[in-house]
Amino acid sequence: MDQIRIIGGTPLHGVVEVGGAKNAALPILAASLLGGGECIIDHVPQVQDLVTMGKLLALLGVEVQTEGGRVMLEASNVQSIEAPYDLVKTMRASILALGPLLTRLGEAKVSLPGGCAIGTRPVTLHLKGLTMMGAEIHVEHGYIHAKASRLKGARIDLDFPTVTGTENLIMAACLADGTTSLHHVAREPEIMDLCAFLTKRGAKIVGAGTDTITIEGVRELHGASHRVMPDRVEAGTFVMAGAITGGDVTVKGCVTDHLGTMFTKIQEMGVELTEEDGEGVRVRRSTPLKAVEVKTLPYPGFPTDLQAQMMALMAVAEGTSVMTETIFEGRFLHVPELHRMGALIDVDGPHAVVKGVPRLAGAPVMASDLRASAGLVLAGLAAEGETIVSRVYHLDRGYERLEEKLQALGAQVQRVREVI
Ligand code: EPZ
Repeated sequence: MDQIRIIGGTPLHGVVEVGGAKNAALPILAASLLGGGECIIDHVPQVQDLVTMGKLLALLGVEVQTEGGRVMLEASNVQSIEAPYDLVKTMRASILALGPLLTRLGEAKVSLPGGCAIGTRPVTLHLKGLTMMGAEIHVEHGYIHAKASRLKGARIDLDFPTVTGTENLIMAACLADGTTSLHHVAREPEIMDLCAFLTKRGAKIVGAGTDTITIEGVRELHGASHRVMPDRVEAGTFVMAGAITGGDVTVKGCVTDHLGTMFTKIQEMGVELTEEDGEGVRVRRSTPLKAVEVKTLPYPGFPTDLQAQMMALMAVAEGTSVMTETIFEGRFLHVPELHRMGALIDVDGPHAVVKGVPRLAGAPVMASDLRASAGLVLAGLAAEGETIVSRVYHLDRGYERLEEKLQALGAQVQRVREVI
């Protein structure tokens, strides 16, 4: 297994381009299942999760061709209704096949994703919504088995604004009989990107980005082309890389509006952020980082996917910060690894009290999940000496060539093969 080796202490300088959003590309590729006609998707990040989604779609009978960041899909002949466990266990987002398969073919058999490092991650809200649209759903032997001759439009009030739950229900409603109104839905920009793509395919959707989305079912969708939105989590990660190293970094290709709350919190820490003609942000810091209080919330609140990265900044800020994680019950796995680097963090349920230290010390650390790994890399960039992050396959699920992009900014970082 590969490792990332970092020698910390170099302020980063230069320009980095943000890639396509993993969490927009995943539902958009899954939406190819909704009908025939060629779909050409550009700006797809070349990361493991998208490779896995491509394999799943091909298994279901979708013709999938990939050329760099372009994915071409044709789903006229979807034959299989089953998303098998051995694929789903490697990527929870496979659950996004459930809604499209059910509404297109009248049946779907999708392995329960199971939990992961950051929490139990149930999908009950997905199933409750589909049941309200007339689906007959049985969960047995680890599989979700759903049937419906044709889903019916319904009013669905979500108990929680689940991101993939919202996406599954939007896709299911596209071909349902009648109108579906979804309430208390997730408002993430990735959902707006999915709806933009579905609309190009002939879906009738209003309200994307608000907490109520109305979908009028149609008989079929046609092909379309789409360019995936920039990845706001990758953008935020690079903003924080510039902030923690005290350099001068311009993050290009990101939509600064998508960074909202994160922007404000980073500025509160004393980091200078200036927008570059609406499609990027310049990051500079000339004073020590200051402590802040952060609470992760559904969009437009502070994104849980930037929590671990933010905690790395808090670990070397002057004063005592508090991070409250309200989305996932197990998303503090990076804390014991930061302890190994000398961070002073006390966890009490959803709260982490972080007492800043002048400098972290490089150490061998273990990645546990995608965003925790990014947090450890940021900590290594600022630490004294060498940090080796193991199990970087977690990182490769969601970051494209992270170490190359950091090298281009002057970081002393390289990928090495683990010596067993
Ligand atoms: C999406 O996961 C993202 N993944 C996650 O990004 C992200 O962290 C998360 O949204 C929150 O923003 C993709 O988009 C592929 P949720 P999702 O359903 O949809 C509870 C990354 O690093 N819940 O919004 O699975 C759940 O337990 C990944 O790129 C229920 O209780 O997240 C959690 O506590 C990690 N019942 C909370 O809602 C349900 O039926 C948020 O989950 C569904 C969810």
